[in-house]
Amino acid sequence: MSSKKAISSKKIETTLVSAGRDKKYTLGSVNAVIQRASSLVFNSVEEKKFATKNRANGELFYGRRGTLTHFSFQQAMVELEGGAGCVLYPCGAAAVSNAILSFVSTGDHILVASSAYEPTQDFAEKVLRKLGVSTTYFPADIGENLGSLMQPNTKVVFLEAPGSITMEMPDLPAMVRAVRAVSPEVIIMIDNTWAAGILFKALDFDIDISIQAGTKYIIGHSDAMIGTAVANDRCWEQLREHSYLMGQMVDADTAYVASRGLRTLGIRLRQHEENSIRVAQWLSQRPEVAVVNHPALPGSKGHEFWKRDFTGSCGLFSFVLKDRLNDQQLAEYLDNFEHFSMAYSWGGFESLILANQPEEIQAIRPAETVDFTGTLVRLHIGLENVEDLIEDLDAGFARIATSA
Ligand SMILES: Cc1ncc(COP(=O)(O)O)c(C=O)c1O
Repeated sequence: MSSKKAISSKKIETTLVSAGRDKKYTLGSVNAVIQRASSLVFNSVEEKKFATKNRANGELFYGRRGTLTHFSFQQAMVELEGGAGCVLYPCGAAAVSNAILSFVSTGDHILVASSAYEPTQDFAEKVLRKLGVSTTYFPADIGENLGSLMQPNTKVVFLEAPGSITMEMPDLPAMVRAVRAVSPEVIIMIDNTWAAGILFKALDFDIDISIQAGTKYIIGHSDAMIGTAVANDRCWEQLREHSYLMGQMVDADTAYVASRGLRTLGIRLRQHEENSIRVAQWLSQRPEVAVVNHPALPGSKGHEFWKRDFTGSCGLFSFVLKDRLNDQQLAEYLDNFEHFSMAYSWGGFESLILANQPEEIQAIRPAETVDFTGTLVRLHIGLENVEDLIEDLDAGFARIATSA
């Protein structure tokens, strides 16, 4: 649904609390109502005609176009990220694949960040390739040279920041400038999940579409999935209509919990950030650690770009051990944490841990040579007391030492 509210001077915390809470969506309560519907009833031929004409502009028409609950959340996302409208998807992966599909045809070419989330690359290799769309991957440090990879048939440039797992921060404005210099028409999109759509205002940086796995910080409680894509004026209609034809929507209950997640997103993110920086600093002093990959930590790859372009960081980062752990050490280390669970996804209130060997990372970095030899550990730092988390990680290092 499209919503062009005047940009106000409200600070982000205030916008997070108020966004999308229009009276027409709350009907007298504080939160938007949960309107579950497939059919939406028209009381007259005239009403049906009006709804049909305005079905893409926030009139109740049919469940797949959204209900009051969806409209409220979509409006909130536009207030937060700017742009002309927000499409909702059942998960982040659906947002990524449908956003790309909306703008390519057989014979086209796209550019994708080599450090993009692995399923994004898999989508390019296993689905787009089959449709006759080719992909070139580019390394995170390509900067101004991104333009040299453009082909006459390049239609989409897909960015992600920071890189998945290895967390390097690219020079996004340099990349956007390079692409626009070759072809102003190319659609530039970004997987903006790490920034929760608010720590990096993608559309202000001349990026056309900001995609999020709202599954992470917007939902914030690891109990629901949603994808969002906020588009600027020139992309909105094509993205909206293509996604609609692909049957992309989410149920009203999930749209509601996503709206509710926004209300506490600011304060949650701030605490995730504070805790994660504390843990990152502690890790950087440890003799077992070769490097800490946290965009907010000086010395981390692309820290200067994060400092220039982002307004904060979150709970997700990684570090590399000096040693490569063997299978027994890995099991000793990972199976026995008290506060860190092993799970995919991230962005919930709880702390998580996963490990990758260098060759596993190399396998998903088609345009780069991995420059580390130890085991990489990715952490999501949750909202627990940070001293408890550090104690837990400390005990983990002790386990590695005794199982060596
Ligand atoms: C950066 C990033 N983008 C997209 C996704 C996909 O989101 P979802 O799990 O909601 O499909 C993930 C999931 O881990 C992710 O980390």
